[in-house]
Amino acid sequence: MRARKIIIDTDPGQDDAVAILLALASAELDVLGITTVAGNVPLPLTSKNARVVCELAGREDVRVFAGCDRPMARKLVTAEYVHGKSGLDGIALPDPTMPLAEGHAVDFLIETLREEAPGTVTLCPIGPLTNVATAFLRAPDIVPRVAEIVLMGGAYFEVGNVTPAAEFNIYVDPEAADIVFKSGVPIVVMPLDVTHKALTTRARVEAFRALGTPVGHAVASWTDFFERFDMAKYGSEGAPLHDPCVIAYLLEPDLFTGRHVNVEIEVKGELTLGMTVADWWRVTGRPANAMFMGGIDAGGFYALLTERLARL
Ligand code: RIB
Ligand code: CA
Repeated sequence: MRARKIIIDTDPGQDDAVAILLALASAELDVLGITTVAGNVPLPLTSKNARVVCELAGREDVRVFAGCDRPMARKLVTAEYVHGKSGLDGIALPDPTMPLAEGHAVDFLIETLREEAPGTVTLCPIGPLTNVATAFLRAPDIVPRVAEIVLMGGAYFEVGNVTPAAEFNIYVDPEAADIVFKSGVPIVVMPLDVTHKALTTRARVEAFRALGTPVGHAVASWTDFFERFDMAKYGSEGAPLHDPCVIAYLLEPDLFTGRHVNVEIEVKGELTLGMTVADWWRVTGRPANAMFMGGIDAGGFYALLTERLARL
């Protein structure tokens, strides 16, 4: 079976790093490239961190393209308070030696979608949607060529994590999210409603460490660091590994349950800016545009993740 072609658009971030490792460990996926965006930390750091992760996986061959350094229409909001100053706090890994690929991430998205056969490339945004929306605006012809968008972002029943109404990826660039959700491309959404059910536990983190590999040690160290914020905020036993849910869906979609509904983005609200307004009970009559996930087999997710990381 031919590997599924994907492009990961990312703002590493420890959870992004685990998602990238999961993708690189899985032969079912052909990572055509990684595009970086400003989000958890500024663009120079997300672009450095993506290469750190590729080298940790022994995949210096993967092309990493730097993208947009700020949202389309707003000031950048970052999340060092969660991810640390480097964006990958928890373990000190060597600076990357692999260079950034030539060219802007938006141009890579446009050129790749024009070159690859229509309906064969899946976009996996796991940060703010600035690069994807900018590509769609600049080259509308690529929109119908996208097979599917599987993204981490949004929240409905779980409410927001950066404001009471909004999740970080959407909140950072709500205008970009609005463009993507209105694009007509089939979308699968991994919101906080799902990721907050994929919590780390001591046993799950120790299972990473017990792999006894540099990857296992890094993932356990990142998770130890990353989870302190959520545990303090929510009083939970562990932290949600948000972004790997996107890649796990590509590998084992049956781990997830959701509903195909209308999802629109609040771009004007003072209190609700960046909210993903999911019409879960279908009361608006607005056409469904997204598979909005709500449930996850957390045990199955961590079993898949641990088994795949062992391959690196
Ligand atoms: O709200 C969680 C999302 O914001 C994740 O993608 C995390 O990496 C941050 O980007
Ligand atoms: Ca992210």
